[in-house]
Amino acid sequence: MTPEELTGLAHFKKEGCMACHPGAGQTGIGPDLTRTPANHRNITWMVPHFKNPPQVVPGSAMPPIDLPNADLNALSLFVLKLTPKNEQALEAAPDFVLQGANRFSIEPLRRLPSDQRLGLEARSGAGWCRSAPRSRLA
Ligand code: HEC
Repeated sequence: MTPEELTGLAHFKKEGCMACHPGAGQTGIGPDLTRTPANHRNITWMVPHFKNPPQVVPGSAMPPIDLPNADLNALSLFVLKLTPKNEQALEAAPDFVLQGANRFSIEPLRRLPSDQRLGLEARSGAGWCRSAPRSRLA
């Protein structure tokens, strides 16, 4: 998994997705995410759905996921990676691996000169520049 996908997995665990999406072949309140239909299997469908499920799927019982855009992107990338075969192995990633991904993703920002860094930090949701939302995983 990439650091981005690992960040997505960290949110997947923290946001309680598995309570409603229990996993491959299992019935829950929500559908099996390893078999998301092709027309929903892309980030441009998923992120608006995470922000406001009933607006995308009328009558949806899924709650809105209140995270910054960059984290919703990461969450989508993780969900898109799920298959019936890899699900258990992916979800078994230990917490220290998830925390390592978190650190990795803010490193490029730290290496920039501080005047440039400040400007980037102000642009929340700008891809890898996410020191504030990342700390919510700790
Ligand atoms: C309270 C139960 C509940 C929780 C918690 C929940 N979901 Fe859902 N989810 C649903 C239901 C019900 C649907 C089907 C209706 C819809 O598509 O909105 C759904 C649909 C989805 C879909 C579309 C699947 C498809 O086959 O089209 C995705 C992707 C998804 N959820 C991901 C997540 C993720 C990721 C989380 C955690 C951040 C999460 N869900 C948390 C209930 C839940």
